[in-house]
Amino acid sequence: MAAMRVHGTPTRTIWPVAGPRAVDIIDQTALPHAYRVLRLHNLADTAQAIRSMQVRGAPLIGVTAAYGVALALAARADDSSLQAALRTLAATRPTAVNLHWALARMQACLVDLPLSGRAEAAWAEAGRIAEEDLEQCRRIGDNGLPLLLANARPPSRLEVMTHCNAGWLATVDHGTALAPVYAAFDQGIDIHVWVSETRPRNQGLLTAWELRQHGVPHTLIADNAAGLLLARGGIDAVIVGADRIAANGDVANKIGTYLKALAARASGVPFYVAAPRSTIDFACPDGAVIPLEERAGEELRMVQGRDATDLPGELRQLAIDEAVVNPAFDITPASLISALISERGSCAASNAGLRNLYPEQPLV
Ligand code: MRU
Repeated sequence: MAAMRVHGTPTRTIWPVAGPRAVDIIDQTALPHAYRVLRLHNLADTAQAIRSMQVRGAPLIGVTAAYGVALALAARADDSSLQAALRTLAATRPTAVNLHWALARMQACLVDLPLSGRAEAAWAEAGRIAEEDLEQCRRIGDNGLPLLLANARPPSRLEVMTHCNAGWLATVDHGTALAPVYAAFDQGIDIHVWVSETRPRNQGLLTAWELRQHGVPHTLIADNAAGLLLARGGIDAVIVGADRIAANGDVANKIGTYLKALAARASGVPFYVAAPRSTIDFACPDGAVIPLEERAGEELRMVQGRDATDLPGELRQLAIDEAVVNPAFDITPASLISALISERGSCAASNAGLRNLYPEQPLV
């Protein structure tokens, strides 16, 4: 049963459907202007959903890729089909390491199996990855809550700022950065979330949408307002998700995260990063070597919304021949991060901190 709700109905972001192999997703390119469920039937549908950001958010990208492998093997289970699926999905988006983590796990599970057993095993493994993601996010909520509460100033309400969407829409359920927020709210704690718009893809609108579905008080701000709000002293903590955490604790996350971390440090506000194990890349020594996605300039030149007749639509705000650059992620150095929060607990954003949390991790 999903913990999060859409119009009061428990809902996950991705779920297998009965009958011939397929999964349903919430089409996040339609939100918040329309709620639409989309069926993915095969590898091509799955790769397109990740590429076009119909599914997005590091953990959800990983889970969707796992189902993509399973759908490819449901059609043809031989080695060339498996390798083609892994290659196609690995090329969809570069920064979120959860994608590569999920593909490596699917490969390890499947490669030595007889062809006759592969399709079934792939489906089961994708399902396990989805269930584990849900459970890990739930634990991130439990582990992050005490950190948020430690910064509360009762009787004032707890004021938390976030960036992008690291809520349940970015995972299977619960979210990463928002999991402790939902945990607090569900325990009756007076909490309010400052949500930055997150231009140009406006993932902050997804955050506002899902907080509203759950009834969590929140306020949307333009990205550029974050520094002022932090400097004024009204924010108790900033919490964000991550697309890849390097072995030294540097974090790749949505563009604009670094500016928030700088402003938080300058204002003496703690800055937390919440992510599951699948987001940590122990093979990546530091943030400088994390591949950062550059997306199409049209994302900056166009804006989406509802028109005067209340229909979803797009408007051009900049001529097609205006030069733009659109980096989708930035790196926040470990030195600006107060703590990392995972399903195992919390730790310093450092090599030692991460090793302490994952002692079984072999040295690379
Ligand atoms: O480009 P997106 O929307 O996939 O980027 C999402 C983010 O940057 C999130 O903050 C990150 O994946 C953490 S989500 C739990």
